[in-house]
Amino acid sequence: RLREGVDIPEWFSYPEVVAELRRSFPPRHQQGFTVFFTGLSGSGKSTIANALRVKLMELGGRAVTLLDGDIVRKELSSELGFSREHRDINVQRIGFVASEITKNGGCAICAPIAPYTDMRRRVRERIEDAGGFLEIHVATPLETCEKRDRKGLYAKARAGLIKEFTGIDDPYEEPEHPELRIDTREMSPDEAAHRILLKLEGMGFIR
Ligand code: PPS
Repeated sequence: RLREGVDIPEWFSYPEVVAELRRSFPPRHQQGFTVFFTGLSGSGKSTIANALRVKLMELGGRAVTLLDGDIVRKELSSELGFSREHRDINVQRIGFVASEITKNGGCAICAPIAPYTDMRRRVRERIEDAGGFLEIHVATPLETCEKRDRKGLYAKARAGLIKEFTGIDDPYEEPEHPELRIDTREMSPDEAAHRILLKLEGMGFIR
């Protein structure tokens, strides 16, 4: 019935209308949102996430929560390893916490590796139901991450001392359509955080 007499294209089905209406109320600058970083170990996720956290806190308006990969592993997922199943459980937990924060009007910044497309899609769907979702691919190439090797983990993985290490003997599925792709060879963490702020502004989540 909605389609008759209302200027809505044929392909715009009823559930999509409802979903779109729900997403645009309350106005975006009053909604919560999640900034979800994904990328290889040592790609710079945590550094950019921290720079963004500081900028968002300075802006005010929303409580900002950082769910960093290493911290979540210690506090929320200490029993988990790095098999696909365990990584998926870990990322799902992060997604759940972020969706609760988003639903309550806050801002969640997540920074896991999250190597699997399917789980990232599921997290996105869940959070988009609650507010905004931005996927940021920190696309620093493996070669650079390995050269930096700040934690010495790549060397250990190459030596076979750590198994299932992302990028070495475990997969990383690159996001096809992230809201933003950042290569830390070309951009400082501060610049990257600034770009994300501009994106959030463009999407209407901050003013
Ligand atoms: S995942 O895939 O999203 O569940 O991974 P995450 O929770 O972000 O954990 C990644 C951090 O754990 C350390 N680490 C490993 N990473 C990848 N593969 C293996 N096998 C592994 N073992 C330990 C590593 O320090 C990662 O930290 P970051 O901050 O990404 O460098």
